[in-house]
Amino acid sequence: MEEIKTTAPNVNPEITRKDFLWTAWAAFATFAASSAVAMGRFMLPNVLYESPQIFKAGKPEDYPVGVSTRWMKEQRVWIVRAENSLYALWGRCTHLGCTPNWFDAEKRFKCPCHGSNFTMQGDVIAGPAPKPLNRCAVTLLPTGEILVDKSIVETRPGLREKKQFQISLDHA
Ligand code: FES
Repeated sequence: MEEIKTTAPNVNPEITRKDFLWTAWAAFATFAASSAVAMGRFMLPNVLYESPQIFKAGKPEDYPVGVSTRWMKEQRVWIVRAENSLYALWGRCTHLGCTPNWFDAEKRFKCPCHGSNFTMQGDVIAGPAPKPLNRCAVTLLPTGEILVDKSIVETRPGLREKKQFQISLDHA
């Protein structure tokens, strides 16, 4: 009868056990770390920081006649000074909400997204925008400063020229 030789696989059981333990610990540590990160994110409030809706924009005399881009970056608002009045235009296109740019040489706001053009008064003169730009509520404080409230806006000609959306500078 022929002898059957059995050969054990060439493994070192001690090293295998160590490798297994290290792998298990590494997996556990990764799981614990990712759980801690997820818990940390859960504990921190998911707040969207936006600029306040109401802000002081200086005094009317700070603005020469024309369109001021001074508050665009911070507040997304243009202060427009006409000869005898001042108003604040919200820098949001009435088509799909992009931010138009002011071109002083052409006296136009132009939206880079789909080509809407607006006059200095905010009226649409080209492109798909369905309505004029919105004007924000403005008040002249007793200190002589302009208070702009972006939470109250008006776009309709006739209503946007009302006292709430325009500061008269007839006395100046
Ligand atoms: S978003 Fe301004 S033209 Fe479309």
